[in-house]
Amino acid sequence: MRGLFVTGTGTEVGKTVVASAIASTARRSGARVAVFKPAVSGLDEHPLTPEVWESAASLPDHALLRLAAGSKQGDEHVAPYRFGPPVSPHLAAELAGERIDPALLRGAALAATEDADLLVCEGVGGFLVPLTTDYLVRDLARDLALPVVIVASPSLGTINHTLLTIEAVRSAGLEVAAVVLSPWPADPSEMERSNLETITRLGSVAVETLPRLDLTKPDSWPALSVGVGSPSAASSLREAA
Ligand SMILES: Nc1ncnc2c1ncn2[C@@H]1O[C@H](COP(=O)(O)OP(=O)(O)OP(=O)(O)O)[C@@H](O)[C@H]1O
Ligand SMILES: [Mg+2]
Repeated sequence: MRGLFVTGTGTEVGKTVVASAIASTARRSGARVAVFKPAVSGLDEHPLTPEVWESAASLPDHALLRLAAGSKQGDEHVAPYRFGPPVSPHLAAELAGERIDPALLRGAALAATEDADLLVCEGVGGFLVPLTTDYLVRDLARDLALPVVIVASPSLGTINHTLLTIEAVRSAGLEVAAVVLSPWPADPSEMERSNLETITRLGSVAVETLPRLDLTKPDSWPALSVGVGSPSAASSLREAA
């Protein structure tokens, strides 16, 4: 399976924005891109009315990913489990009287790649978030065996969070394709520049930046290529293009 698994140092750090920017970049280079998100919660906060769909800024994760990828996948193919309350997937499933089935997730991710050159998969929350009581985002990433992109904030606290996540990804036996700091300010402070340099050095990793995007205008987004210095991610993207 060719693709990337986008995780983050936590929830609300910019995974969807970064995964969408990667998907959009690959699409614009001619690749057929599929997107996948094992579970989406918090849909109660995204009333899907036609007016809301006009603005990419208000789309739930699976819909923004699909728009960026230019994919025709149905909701259930992008995100097999979709829940209303904004809580961890294992709890959202429990509240809905369901149980997330890891085998179904693996099958759905594989099926998503059938008509695609590249799969961009967004995790849920951070790397050790449970999808079931004993199957974590880490376990899905490992089952899919994709290079991992770690999304992090550029600001105070990010060195520790990012290095911890790098260690967790590597100890799962996976490659860190890149860290992406988002949103990267137009005029970064000395601390933000130092954070980038320190993560690069201590994490032995490529660190990319993504500026604040206008989510209402996907065509205005700058290209985001990850995988420079990372043979498997680079070849994933190259083979896809
Ligand atoms: N580069 C960016 N440009 C514009 N907005 C950004 C950027 N990075 C982060 N954000 C903003 O930060 C917030 C969180 O981003 P996003 O939804 O991508 O996070 P997430 O990690 O996917 O969250 P979740 O854990 O809920 O999936 C959003 O309001 C998003 O608009
Ligand atoms: Mg998200």
